[in-house]
Parts: sequence; structure tokens; C-alpha cells
Amino acid sequence: MNIALQTPPVSAKENPSSVGPEEGTPPNEFTKDVIAGLTAPQKTLPCKYLYDEAGSRIFEQICELEDYYLTRTEAEIFSSHLPDIAKELGTGVTLIEPGAGNCEKAEPLLAIMESPEAYIPIDISPEILLGARARFEASQPELLVRPVIGDFTQMDRWGDEEPGNRQVVFFPGSTIGNFTHQQAQNLLQHFAAQMAPGDGLLLGVDLVKDSVVLERAYHDDRHVTEAFNKNLLRRINRELGADFDLDAFSHRAFYHPLRQRVEMHLVSLKDQQVRVADLSIPFLEGESIHTENSHKYTLESLASLLNKAGFQQKHYWTDTNNHYVICYAEIF
Ligand SMILES: C[S@@+](CC[C@H](N)C(=O)[O-])C[C@H]1O[C@@H](n2cnc3c(N)ncnc32)[C@H](O)[C@@H]1O
Repeated sequence: MNIALQTPPVSAKENPSSVGPEEGTPPNEFTKDVIAGLTAPQKTLPCKYLYDEAGSRIFEQICELEDYYLTRTEAEIFSSHLPDIAKELGTGVTLIEPGAGNCEKAEPLLAIMESPEAYIPIDISPEILLGARARFEASQPELLVRPVIGDFTQMDRWGDEEPGNRQVVFFPGSTIGNFTHQQAQNLLQHFAAQMAPGDGLLLGVDLVKDSVVLERAYHDDRHVTEAFNKNLLRRINRELGADFDLDAFSHRAFYHPLRQRVEMHLVSLKDQQVRVADLSIPFLEGESIHTENSHKYTLESLASLLNKAGFQQKHYWTDTNNHYVICYAEIF
């Protein structure tokens, strides 16, 4: 295997996005985003910050929960249709995966694709990408793997070299659901700007369904999603020297039928002040921090999103309950 790490992982000391503010140094992006979010009328935090090393590990546990049907259902669709999906993607393709996480979904796909040219997993969490490296080394030594560490919403290019072959963007896990409809359209257009006509997009998307099923997936009995949500406060405490009392906040997840999304919040259990990067942030009892959206689509709203972003849907595969869809689209 040939692996090039486009942005090398660096220690917390070297990495400005993973350390707290020091006197006299300009605030880093994490600090700026946290302060902007916590001083807004509806307090909010960008969901990408849920995935530090601990958050990524807790997310893997969420994926194994019985209540979290998304991962299981997506895996069922993949295992039933993998040869068809691989055929649809074509030969000699470079597979690019924004928000690749542990790269577990790309592995069987790349193994069955015809002569894939390269695999470019992108993630903001370096630890998880590096963990995936050893697995690829063992399982597909001939494959060119070029992990890129960074924020895929901000990236104008996926790699150093000009792509000479067909590209397919692989975006599973319903990560697109974390964006509002407008943001999702902008993101897909941003991807499209780095692609050429005929290039593809393989997208996994969670579908609108019974609210009880949806809410259970984000508020499980074993409190794993709660731990995932609260880990964000622990991260802010550690990296920004804040003093959030995790027991003074509760996890809340509910389906908003008009917006067709599950919202995840952290609700203050009392009136309190929290110190964050030299600011004192007031919380009223019952006031929440909005930490994540997970938008759900219908087949129609998905086709419309793809069209608005310049993609034409070629094929889609669903499970027997129509809970989830994997679709393949190409740039027209
Ligand atoms: C929900 S997980 C999905 C992982 C994998 N694609 C899957 O389907 O299982 C989201 C992953 O995307 C990464 N991520 C989230 N926002 C990101 C961003 N803006 N740029 C890069 N990576 C991001 C997180 O670190 C995490 O590993």
C-alpha cells in the first residue's frame, strides 16, 4: 500500500485547533466557534466538534446499538447490493470519502470495485484515520491510500495531485443529514466544483419515518448518545479550560416533524454561570445548547436536493422497511 498523509497529524502543542487560548495569542478556530455559539440567542455548538478521539470512539459504540438502526440498515443494504453498487461506480475510480471516520464502509466496497485507482479518506480526527491505515495495509496492500486530515467543508482540493481519472465521492452514514437543506445543497455543490461531468456521488441517507423509531435512535436506553453529546462539554473543559459541570446538563433529542430532523440538545438543569475562555456564560434553567441536527429525507426531497446541486440520480437501493437509502448520482 502507498499511503501519503496530506496533512500530517501533529501534537496538541503544535496544532492550533486543539489547544486552549494563551494570553496574547489570537483565539483559534475551535475557541472562536465555541464562543460564537455559546453567546448566540439560541446557544449552539458545531456538531463537527463532537468527534475528538473520545467522541469518535463513543460514536463507534452508538453504531453498534440496537436502537441506532441507521448503521445496521445501511450495512444490510450494502451487503445485499455490493456487487451492483460497485458495478455502478465503474472501473479505475478514485474514491474520496469526506468524514471517513474509521473507513470501515469503504473497505469492502474498494475490495469489490474493479481496479480502483486510489482511496482518499478525509477526516478532522487524525487518530481515527491513522487507525484505519493499518487495516488497509493488511487487507489491500496494492491500493493507493491518501488520507487527508482537515475539514471537508473548507477544502478546495482533495489532494496534491490533479485527478486524472474518474472520481466518486463516497458520503455514507447520513452525514449529509447534519446539514440544513441549504447547507447540504451548498456542500454538494462544493463537492461538484472539484469534480467533472460523469463523476459520481454515492450517498447514504436516512429517510423520514415514525418519530418513535427516530427518537429512540438518538436517545438510547444505555445512554451512549448522552455520553457522546456530553463529551463535547468535556472537550471544551479540557481544551478551553472551561468549567462545565456535566451533571448540570441533560441530554435531549427530539424529532421536529416540520423541519424533518432530529435535534440534539444539552439542557441546563439550573440557572448557572459557566466560565469558557475568560467569559462567563449565563444559562437559565431549561435553556439549551443545540449540538446536532440529523435531517431526514424522502426519496423525492433527496432527488430534488441532488438536482439542485447539479447531480442526477442514477440508481438507489433501500431496505425492506424503507428506513434508509443508498443512492448513486452523477454530475450532469
Ligand atoms: C457520523 S461519522 C461518519 C463516519 C463514516 N463516514 C460512516 O459513515 O460511518 C462522521 C465522521 O465525520 C467526521 N467529520 C465530521 N465533520 C467533519 C468535517 N467538517 N470535516 C472532516 N471530517 C468531519 C468526524 O470526525 C467523524 O469521523
